[in-house]
Amino acid sequence: MIPVPRKMRFTEGTAGRAVPVKEKICAGLGREEYRIRISPEQILLEGSGEEGLFYARTTLGQLRLEYGEGLPCMEIEDQPAYTYRSFQIDCARHYFSVDELKKMIRMAAEFKLNHFHWHISDDQGWRIECKRYPKLHEIGSVRAGDHFGNYHSDEKYEGYYSRDEVRDIVDYCGRFGIEVVPEIDMPGHVTAILAAYPELSCLGTPVEVGMKAGIFKELFCAGREETFVFIENLLDDMLELFPGKYFHIGGDEAPKQRWNECSHCQKRIKEAGLLNAQELQGYFCNRIASYLLAKGRIPIVWNEAVYGGNLDKEVVVQLWTEDKDNQIKAHLDKGGKAILAMVENCYCDYPHGMHSLKDMYSLKAEPAELGEGIEQSVLGGECLVWTEFIRDNERLEELCWPRFAALAEVGWCGRNRPAYEDFCKRLEASFSLFEKYGIHATKREGWEPDEQMAAEQTAQFQMNFSKEDREEARRAQENV
Ligand code: ACM
Ligand code: ZN
Repeated sequence: MIPVPRKMRFTEGTAGRAVPVKEKICAGLGREEYRIRISPEQILLEGSGEEGLFYARTTLGQLRLEYGEGLPCMEIEDQPAYTYRSFQIDCARHYFSVDELKKMIRMAAEFKLNHFHWHISDDQGWRIECKRYPKLHEIGSVRAGDHFGNYHSDEKYEGYYSRDEVRDIVDYCGRFGIEVVPEIDMPGHVTAILAAYPELSCLGTPVEVGMKAGIFKELFCAGREETFVFIENLLDDMLELFPGKYFHIGGDEAPKQRWNECSHCQKRIKEAGLLNAQELQGYFCNRIASYLLAKGRIPIVWNEAVYGGNLDKEVVVQLWTEDKDNQIKAHLDKGGKAILAMVENCYCDYPHGMHSLKDMYSLKAEPAELGEGIEQSVLGGECLVWTEFIRDNERLEELCWPRFAALAEVGWCGRNRPAYEDFCKRLEASFSLFEKYGIHATKREGWEPDEQMAAEQTAQFQMNFSKEDREEARRAQENV
């Protein structure tokens, strides 16, 4: 079973198919906690509400898959180590249909993941119908072609989710205890937004929706008040669609060249008593964050947003790279919270030969560089898939599964998860789950590629990029 339950004790006898299943609400249990008691006379599922009961039913379903007609009698008591167990799909670089997303969501629910981080805006596309600013979906969702790395197509690429489709996804997730966490990345990764509303950038000159991978120069201008008015209106429009507690506002990979050269941004730095453009990013994030907090939402940012040293402690930080100048540690020491999503462990856009299933399963709840005692600051973890180089659903699925299941167990069991080999055994035994939902999961021989296979996969992945792409990415990274 995946994730493995916290406590499981076999008792006498078996329960056949005809044994009735009874569900009972038990107010004393935690929100996601559940209990199962299987006896020859009855199968009793207990939870304090819908989430717990859903998990009890899910576990029972996995038991039936494993044991067939006659279930051994047993008692299970189970609850997660972490409240935030998330999977991310980038629908900006490539669009995946509502049905394709539902398939991924249903599969994730089977492993008790409970947040769907939906990356809906980036340089290469804005993907949600927007009432307040319709040019976002009319212009921002269309690009003239795909020039991702060595891949070259001059065919128009487009797609966005209508508001009804968004509501459908949110409702669908809700049926399985999953909250949708939308991400509007800012102040960088906004080229598609700027293609629709160029007046929001420092230069104010027209740009096209991005066709290449990488880090783009144009940012929202943090000096002009109009930018903040736009973002707040946009957030109002999006909050209508997304009722959940968390809202991701990006903050990664924002090179500061434009801000350094912009008179409005420089004026802002002076007037707000900031030291430099790095602090301006903290200021920018804090303003958006306080707007969301006032609406009762919790903002999340990528770790670069912490580097200015002035990020409000209420903003949750999603860790994916490094702790520059101990700024992340300082944020957590102030009482800030973190979500773990380290590239080396959690990024499924890389082939297994670069980030194996074992790497995902080995995600540390306490990253060494942050020192002892951050465990209470960790809300949970996330597995991710960026889709610059993923153009179809089958490839998406084979990259994500079963690695997403490994993260699910990390999040559910935390430090007390069994050894990796034990996980693999259970994974093999439950592989029919992927077949049940029609998911193209990577089979056992692909989980830990040997040296030669890993080298081949790495070389193939690197072929996505030209030498110039790599050089440009390196330069851009230095300026973030
Ligand atoms: C990221 O991978 N740019 C967060
Ligand atoms: Zn500016």
